[in-house]
Amino acid sequence: MTDAILFASQPTLVGEAVTLRPFEAADADAMLAILRDPELRVLTGSTHSRTDAEADDTDEARIREWYASRAEQRDRIDLAIVDRSTGRVVGESVVNDWSPEDESANFRILIGPEGRGRGLGTEAIRLTVRLAFTATTLHRLELEVFAFNPRARRAYEKAGFVYEGTRRQAFKLDDERIDAVVMSILRPEWEAAGAPATPAAGIS
Ligand SMILES: CC(C)(COP(=O)(O)OP(=O)(O)OC[C@H]1O[C@@H](n2cnc3c(N)ncnc32)[C@H](O)[C@@H]1OP(=O)(O)O)[C@@H](O)C(=O)NCCC(=O)NCCS
Repeated sequence: MTDAILFASQPTLVGEAVTLRPFEAADADAMLAILRDPELRVLTGSTHSRTDAEADDTDEARIREWYASRAEQRDRIDLAIVDRSTGRVVGESVVNDWSPEDESANFRILIGPEGRGRGLGTEAIRLTVRLAFTATTLHRLELEVFAFNPRARRAYEKAGFVYEGTRRQAFKLDDERIDAVVMSILRPEWEAAGAPATPAAGIS
């Protein structure tokens, strides 16, 4: 990766139901539990087998090192999603694979079982998109979502991502071939939509 800087520091974003904040080393405990969730492992493509998804083969040392080093990153954004009703870390929201020349990057999000289905994901996506288009020069955010994940697709659509195309049968889960749907959001579209999702207490 280049030494170019997407962010001088990892910010904190305060929304109504969630706070997005830089990772601390101690968050690895919460993230380990989240990343071991079999449903999450299938939905994120972390495994190619539903049976393997149940196995606890997480590399704990690597995960601890990963979350201890997220706050130092300057070419990507990795933010912990904190459920404001409990103060607990429930997932992560990430802007990665930055291409400075194209002013484009990838977006991904994951939330563990305790945080799902309550609107936290949609708010976290909106906050991250807003951050990308207000605090960086990014023009485009893109993502991939498997066809068997309508909940994620719906959350992305609510936050303004639009369908772009399908990578047909791009992923194999056991004997099943799964389409991967490509979605994106462009800065002018986001601005035309009224730059939605102003954080309650802003960016710090
Ligand atoms: C994807 C994810 C971030 C969404 O966050 P969330 O907090 O669970 O989602 P929200 O509650 O904000 O919104 C989900 C929306 O999908 C809808 N939904 C839920 N299940 C659905 C289904 N089977 N079909 C269609 N829509 C569905 C909900 O009704 C809601 O829409 P609404 O507000 O219009 O009713 C989260 O569920 C998650 O991380 N899941 C596991 C990992 C994953 O899938 N990551 C994404 C990989 S691409």
